[in-house]
Amino acid sequence: MSNKVVLAYSGGLDTSVAIQWLKENYDLDVIALTIDVGNERDFSAIKQKALKVGAVKSLVIDARDLFVKYFVFPSLQADAVYEGQYPLATALSRPLMAKLLVDTALEEGASAIAHGCTGKGNDQVRFDVGVSALAPNLRIIAPAREWGMTREETIEYARRHDIPVPITVASPYSIDECLWGRSIECGVLEDPWAEPPDDVFAWTKAPAQAPDKPVYIEIGFEKGVPVTVDGKEVAGVGLIQQLNELAGSHGVGRIDHIENRLVGIKSREIYEAPAAVVLLQAHLALEAMTLAKDQLRFKQRVAQEYADLIYNGLWFTSLHQDLAAYVQSSQRHVSGTVRLKLFKGSCQVVGRKSPKSLYNLSLATYDKGDLFDQSAAAGFIHLWGLPVRTQAQVQLLEEAEGRSGIIPPVKEEG
Ligand code: ARG
Repeated sequence: MSNKVVLAYSGGLDTSVAIQWLKENYDLDVIALTIDVGNERDFSAIKQKALKVGAVKSLVIDARDLFVKYFVFPSLQADAVYEGQYPLATALSRPLMAKLLVDTALEEGASAIAHGCTGKGNDQVRFDVGVSALAPNLRIIAPAREWGMTREETIEYARRHDIPVPITVASPYSIDECLWGRSIECGVLEDPWAEPPDDVFAWTKAPAQAPDKPVYIEIGFEKGVPVTVDGKEVAGVGLIQQLNELAGSHGVGRIDHIENRLVGIKSREIYEAPAAVVLLQAHLALEAMTLAKDQLRFKQRVAQEYADLIYNGLWFTSLHQDLAAYVQSSQRHVSGTVRLKLFKGSCQVVGRKSPKSLYNLSLATYDKGDLFDQSAAAGFIHLWGLPVRTQAQVQLLEEAEGRSGIIPPVKEEG
């Protein structure tokens, strides 16, 4: 049996302590694996730190392109948003991390993987379910779920073992970042009545302090994937970074969500997701032009299923593959350009165009050039209303009073 474990290493206090703890409690040599999903940090410092606090090997993988191509954009094409609010940043990054942990464990001949999640959140589920789907024989260890130390005890443990305690430990918040968004939990935010203080935000300007002049942007999509900004081609990672910066500087992308966690609790989550908010809105606007009414209706239902399965850690499932196939197929005409206006925290679609648009001016217009045959409307309405008239005569009119939608007769006064 190998005595190696691959640990998902963030460089923070918990995963640094975990390196020592895995050695002490499981007699395992730790290979630290840090995965860059756009959480802009000093990765060479993190790599060094892992070795300094006792890892036998330290690896950093730049997974940003993979993340955008296989996770973020498919989820955008699906319009996946959890509970109508959360664009799923963290939730999308975890299955990718699970995959890279498994690959690394197999390459390095490790018998286990480990992660820094506690036992209260969704991330432990996503890691554990993801890893066990891909490599059922790998052991999974979640030190922070097992060790039962309080925050203070963890800091104390770190001091005893010469593990540097980062200044950010003083921060009352728990933060997670990737290209698709930033999440902030804990501290005063645990009071759902308390307005988030300014210091929770790092990517977005307070709308009141945003520029007094709106900015317009045009996003070009190809089969549901954003490919240009203001007419210029930009690759996925760069495009998301550019929009995070621009929209964030106009105060766009703040989300305050009372969220239903998979483990059964409600939690108050603050998100900053400027690029996600802009792109999801733009994408929906283009779909409204290029998909038929029934496709749009059906796709909304798929979107909700898709968001739930991402949130709930079910990425590596056949249901996901089936839904993804539908989503891909639905995107084949979703190409065109959307124009948006960013202004003091708001993001509005102000224009859209597509070579595959189903919007037909000569049908929609009230002006000259109208091709809509108004004389056909009467016959259509006659048949459309047929079951309504039938039912009204047989059932509705006699049971009228007290039923919703039926107004009692108005009594004349005097
Ligand atoms: N509530 C979000 C989710 O479940 C964000 C989780 C953030 N994770 C973290 N380790 N801070 O996806």
